[in-house]
Amino acid sequence: MEIIPFDKRIGFIWYNGEIVEWQDATTHVLNHGLHYGSCVFEGLRVYSSNIYKLEQHTDRLFHSANRMGIEVPYTKNELNDAQEQIIKKMNITYGYIRPVIWRGSEMMAISAQKNKINVAIATWEWPSYFSPEDRLKGLTLQTAEWRRPPANTIPTDAKAAGLYMICTLSKHKAEKDGFTDALMLDYEGKVAESTGSNIFFVFNGELHTPIPHCFLDGITRQTAISIAEKQGIKVVQRDIFPEEIKDAQEIFLTGSAVEINPVRKIDDLEFKVGKVTSMISELYLSEVDKNYKINNL
Ligand SMILES: Cc1ncc(COP(=O)(O)O)c(C=O)c1O
Repeated sequence: MEIIPFDKRIGFIWYNGEIVEWQDATTHVLNHGLHYGSCVFEGLRVYSSNIYKLEQHTDRLFHSANRMGIEVPYTKNELNDAQEQIIKKMNITYGYIRPVIWRGSEMMAISAQKNKINVAIATWEWPSYFSPEDRLKGLTLQTAEWRRPPANTIPTDAKAAGLYMICTLSKHKAEKDGFTDALMLDYEGKVAESTGSNIFFVFNGELHTPIPHCFLDGITRQTAISIAEKQGIKVVQRDIFPEEIKDAQEIFLTGSAVEINPVRKIDDLEFKVGKVTSMISELYLSEVDKNYKINNL
């Protein structure tokens, strides 16, 4: 299937309070977000025409903006309504929503005191489901050379564009070497997350996941923890070291985009897609989408 480049698509985008033609949602090349990374964003999914955890994502968007000193020129309710409005206008059933906030072009310097704060919300169809067979195939990860920085060097709890620079570098290297994605360690060499998702390990029937002290405490991560706990699975949040990975029975990633996705290989270590991962994945899909029919539980 031909993928149409994002800037060539047709449709509508919510842009600074108005719905504009997709092709008209542009910004000047001399904008502060592009040059100095003053940009925060969100990524949400739509299932059966419903936005999953809209309020939590909007709370995080405002938190990210606040961490960047950006005062959002709309209320949370206005941005929630705008997201509902644009998915209806675009007729999205299974899709993705990308709200983005950035500083504009009024000044071109590190200081951005006079720059306008712009807000846009784009959405597109993005069917969520792999076939059950594909879902069970699992992803492959390569340990990245770049490390997640400590929380006192950059606002690591913000979903801010600048934090993705090392993710793209790491993901490109992983893809070049034949892996699906990268595993990022933190500045101390502990396991952190993947480039756009959190990571979980099954050790002897328990679920272990790193403490998010210098990366996003993902909304899907929190959902996976609560699903597991409801099933009576013990969840342990702790420092995890790369040397321990070989002892894991199962590994999976969590994120709004990747959902719950098994990992079958990290560097040269291979893993099976096991029952805990399949169960949490199925329960997650049945929670997010009222029309999802659970397979093989
Ligand atoms: C770097 C990073 N970590 C983790 C996540 C998972 O977050 P969530 O589950 O809220 O989508 C994301 C996705 O937003 C991400 O980009």
